[in-house]
Amino acid sequence: MIQKGGGKVTTMTTTTGQIHPEIQSFGERFSKDLPDLDSYRSCIEYTRQALPVLLLNRQLLVEIMQGVVSGEPYPDIRRPTMFDNELILYVHPARLFSLRLYLWGAGEFTYPHDHNAWGVIGTAMEGYEVTNFRRVDDGSMEGYAKLEEVARINLKPGETAFTLPFDEGIHRTGNSGDKTIITLHLYGKSHSRSYLQGYDIVNNQVYRVFPPRLKKKTLASQALADMKA
Ligand SMILES: [Fe+2]
Repeated sequence: MIQKGGGKVTTMTTTTGQIHPEIQSFGERFSKDLPDLDSYRSCIEYTRQALPVLLLNRQLLVEIMQGVVSGEPYPDIRRPTMFDNELILYVHPARLFSLRLYLWGAGEFTYPHDHNAWGVIGTAMEGYEVTNFRRVDDGSMEGYAKLEEVARINLKPGETAFTLPFDEGIHRTGNSGDKTIITLHLYGKSHSRSYLQGYDIVNNQVYRVFPPRLKKKTLASQALADMKA
């Protein structure tokens, strides 16, 4: 369990501002303990014990939200991310893990998607809904995917769920309530795939979603090639 206020808290300055001391302390603790854990399951178990301390720390979340609203350098809302409701709170120097915060307006959900890493996802407020899917086709047909819903859960404040890489962790998450909510997600080391997969469950389709910078580079490169042709 992560202890709050234990020992001297040091802060690290990044190019985008000073990390919140509570987050810095949490990140340092994880940096020390996570390398000793040798399986997804043990990493997930450890993280599920630790994350509620942050989820239930109302003062911490208030300070982070105040930073966003007043345009403080931390957390950096200009940094491009895969989802537009996502803010990066901490990244391990060797990218062993990252801690991210998500903001969800009333009724906002992701599309069904997979991940390139294991992850623990938890909510600070009532209303966070997680639907897990199983892929039931064999993946042999390009662009085709059939998903089956296997579980739908509503998390209470401080509760967590988890995801796994690729087909083992397909889910759709969001806010089924009528107030804006905050969730915190800790993801492990990413596999080298440069995109995640999105799913259209109405039309049984799967498509690739690239990070914003890579998407722009790829499209620019294609446009250049077309203009030269
Ligand atoms: Fe997700």
